[in-house]
Amino acid sequence: MTDQSARRAFYEADGLATEIYDALAASLIAGSPVDGDIDFYLGLAAETGGPVLDVGCGTGRVAAVLAQAGFEVVGVDLSVPMLRLAGRRRERLDAEVAGRLSFTHGDMTTLDLGRDFALIITPSRVFQFALTSDAQRQALAALRRHLRPSGRLVLDLFDPLLDLVVPSEDPPGRGGELVHPTSGNRVTWEVTGRSPDPARQLIVEDWTYREISESGEVLRSVTERLALRWSTRSEMRLLFELSGLEVEAEYGDFRGGPPAYGREQVWVLRRPAGSTMTEDTPTLTPRMKRTMGRAGELARARGHAYLGTEHLILALIDDPLGIAGGVMERLGCADAVRDEVIRIIESDGYSRGSSWLERLGPGGDENRGR
Ligand SMILES: C[S@@+](CC[C@H](N)C(=O)[O-])C[C@H]1O[C@@H](n2cnc3c(N)ncnc32)[C@H](O)[C@@H]1O
Repeated sequence: MTDQSARRAFYEADGLATEIYDALAASLIAGSPVDGDIDFYLGLAAETGGPVLDVGCGTGRVAAVLAQAGFEVVGVDLSVPMLRLAGRRRERLDAEVAGRLSFTHGDMTTLDLGRDFALIITPSRVFQFALTSDAQRQALAALRRHLRPSGRLVLDLFDPLLDLVVPSEDPPGRGGELVHPTSGNRVTWEVTGRSPDPARQLIVEDWTYREISESGEVLRSVTERLALRWSTRSEMRLLFELSGLEVEAEYGDFRGGPPAYGREQVWVLRRPAGSTMTEDTPTLTPRMKRTMGRAGELARARGHAYLGTEHLILALIDDPLGIAGGVMERLGCADAVRDEVIRIIESDGYSRGSSWLERLGPGGDENRGR
């Protein structure tokens, strides 16, 4: 018998756990809140079109079906053993379908494929493998960078049952068995350890797999450690806001059920409409955010339904402790700039949106505007 009792991380190495991934996933997903996820992704892909990015694609369970349905799919995963299985799945497909499907090694927190996608999916709770807030934010930033302006990003997380994510005296108890896909032997799986870390919002579980011969001999045994970060719905909403993502829809399962405690968190996200922030926009400083807020107030106070550089410059002048306002103050031009901007805003031509440009004098061109 091979006993790899030293615990390793899920999906880290080739072996019993990855060999039975598809059979185990099928048995765990059936009847669970994740049931129906593939149909959900197919429906969304029909709306957005391709290409589709499947992040944490694993063995290609979802990616292959999307490619069969006619979409171009790129699958990315951190685990080389899982990618190897995905590659084998691809080899079994028709050449035409396989031509639409590719798999590549990558980490969702640092991903940089140099292209964008109409639909990005993260099936079977991949996002929960980001174990810290920093990693979550890095992953969201990376996924957003790969999202087309009109694209959709789907995140799937379990909604934490709070009594199950804290330490308890109860034995872990979960387990089951299935048939090994190639050897035909019986394989048992059991959660043999549980050490949740509520302070870090982690569930940490040891899963032990055993392959058993017909005569009952344990041929192979391996224990792997699963660590996942759980997050509440309100925390996710704040993360999305920080990451420049807007919630288009939120479900409690993949059949369109309403959000419900302890069910699935299925988030459909997009980039905010009219967002001018690009993936290259560096983080705004708190002062810049305040200044933009002030500029918004100034625009609203004048009945303007948009935010222009004219509002921003007035807000900058209002803040002499900021560099821009301070420089104008020191050069003694703050009042003159404010008066000139207000004069332009209040001029007749301003509301028509063109003749005020001429008031800027020589050098005004079409690129100088709101
Ligand atoms: C539960 S499996 C889901 C596989 C597949 N999405 C499915 O639905 O069958 C989680 C997958 O996420 C991958 N993964 C974990 N952390 C990752 C990361 N930082 N970047 C990319 N993939 C990651 C694992 O290697 C594993 O294949």
